[in-house]
Amino acid sequence: MAEATIIYDRLRWEEKQLYEKGSEVGLNVKLVDVKERPLELTSTRLAEDISHVVLQRTISHYRGLYYSFVLENQGHYVINSFVSSLICGNKLLTTQLLAKSGIPTPKTYVAFSQESAVDIMEKMGYPVVLKPIVGSWGRMVAKIINREQAESLLEARELLTDPQQQIYYIQEYIKRPPRDIRGIVVNGRVITAYYRYQPEGDWRTNIARGGKAELAKVDGELEDLMIRASNIVSGKVIGVDAMETSDGYVIHELNNNLEFHGASEVSDVDIAKEIMEYVKEEAAR
Ligand SMILES: Nc1ncnc2c1ncn2[C@@H]1O[C@H](COP(=O)(O)OP(=O)(O)O)[C@@H](O)[C@H]1O
Ligand SMILES: [Mg+2]
Repeated sequence: MAEATIIYDRLRWEEKQLYEKGSEVGLNVKLVDVKERPLELTSTRLAEDISHVVLQRTISHYRGLYYSFVLENQGHYVINSFVSSLICGNKLLTTQLLAKSGIPTPKTYVAFSQESAVDIMEKMGYPVVLKPIVGSWGRMVAKIINREQAESLLEARELLTDPQQQIYYIQEYIKRPPRDIRGIVVNGRVITAYYRYQPEGDWRTNIARGGKAELAKVDGELEDLMIRASNIVSGKVIGVDAMETSDGYVIHELNNNLEFHGASEVSDVDIAKEIMEYVKEEAAR
């Protein structure tokens, strides 16, 4: 029987679903909590209690990244790969690669000091969006409406100990409907897509912030963009986020560690099953 290992640091609804659907599709799924399973860096062989094919599902970006790097170099096949997770987990890297690949994405600058960050914002004109380069759930993603607010936010970021907080990712604010579109791309196929409506009192649409999911129609243009976006990072299971503008779609984010609880309430596609069917395909190679 083909087998695969799910590596995790907390079993969310998603991991339990993946585990269950794995057996449904005829895959022997093992679960490994990375917090309890140190890795030997100096080993050059497959970790024996971990399958050749690994589905990486840690909530912690850095745990997932480093675990993947080690396993890949010891011969495991990790979904998503180390490089794919590295890029998707970092908005600076993602935006640069989207732009280079000709995929429409919001105009974005990166500034390396408070002063030059304010200068760029003044030049762009408000509102602008300031984001941490590594982060999720809309955390610390701020819409800035004037210079005063910009300066106080940048001052606050200066006090944070994570050096990445002093790298300022500044993006044009996209005038969009009160929603964005999340597509789930599995092995080069958009299996489902849904709108995320911003909740009362917030401009961000993250489900984690109370955003409401609704099934979305995907036209050919959007489908093509989502597939191309997941391909530029060689992503295998990727959440691709798009916004609607008067001038077509823009892709603003790629997510390597997909949460799909909200999506599964509105989609008739069995997302966990689709993912595990793909994992099984890899495991059976
Ligand atoms: N440039 C933008 N213009 C308008 N809304 C945006 C912009 N960037 C992000 N948003 C909104 O904020 C949410 C969070 O931003 P995102 O870049 O996806 O960061 P996170 O990784 O925290 O989800 C998005 O889902 C979207 O609703
Ligand atoms: Mg997002």
